[in-house]
Amino acid sequence: MKPAVILYKKLPDDLRARLAAHADITEISDLSPASQQQHAEALAQAEGLLGSGGKVNGELLAKMPKLRACSSVSVGYDNFDVDALNQRHVVLMHTPTVLTETVADTIMALVLSTARRVPELDAWVKAGNWQKSIGPERFGIDVHHKTLGILGMGRIGMALAQRAHFGFGMKILYNARREHQEAQSRFGAERCELETLLEQSDFVCISLPLTEQTHHLIGAEQIALMKPEAVLINAGRGPVVDENALIAALQAGKLHAAGLDVFEKEPLPTDSPLLSLPNVVTLPHIGSATHETRYGMMLDAVDNLIAALSGKVDKNCVNPQALK
Ligand code: DGY
Repeated sequence: MKPAVILYKKLPDDLRARLAAHADITEISDLSPASQQQHAEALAQAEGLLGSGGKVNGELLAKMPKLRACSSVSVGYDNFDVDALNQRHVVLMHTPTVLTETVADTIMALVLSTARRVPELDAWVKAGNWQKSIGPERFGIDVHHKTLGILGMGRIGMALAQRAHFGFGMKILYNARREHQEAQSRFGAERCELETLLEQSDFVCISLPLTEQTHHLIGAEQIALMKPEAVLINAGRGPVVDENALIAALQAGKLHAAGLDVFEKEPLPTDSPLLSLPNVVTLPHIGSATHETRYGMMLDAVDNLIAALSGKVDKNCVNPQALK
């Protein structure tokens, strides 16, 4: 008999069929309380869970006594209570490799669009304002040969450093617990304290996961260390930055700009002051959102779940200790 699996994300037909060859699928729209109530029986029988965007916590696990494996269509796993999964010996799979280059492209897009004010000037032209050559009040700042500081020198940080160093001749600083030999030898990246990175970088790029340690890592005190012409880019997780502190700094003109793909609350509330600041570029959490990469993530997630349910976990596992 095939194991029962809950799918809380729509998959393309071919990937659904790939999973269906190994599992009996029940598709549900999301993990909201209403959906959990509606599908209580299916949850109670399920050995696998695949999707993204819903909270998987002790409360949900209590409704899924047979659960053995979760597969997230994401690299980040802050939606999962890993301690609760470990206690239940439920393995958690994710997609850490397939999205690296695409997310680095998104960060570079934020760097360029904030520095050169692309969305702001695009709106200005489309509003019919371009009547004569622009003056300095619409100039941007250079990207090439500036200093880029990276918080989170993982796979995405490395792919960003590669773009910035080879493509734009930028100096790379990074803050990490350990020396990153490869970053140093390939990109001449220099490891430094957080304070030094904030003081010296023209672009501070965050690609950190959300943990207790990174929550509000960047607040008023840290933003105050940044140069007034610097740019803050966040493509990790929203709560790594204290959003109110960032808004206050931007409103007071203390930074050149901010480029944000992630927010403390998503979707970003329509009354957020960020939406009325012309020097803020806001994206709807699109780090990995290209057709090719999202397909690749779903393919990995399907294969990860099949492997986990058949006891063949050799990669992409967040908590191998749960298998013991
Ligand atoms: C990820 O994969 O973690 C992206 O941020 C999408 O959630």
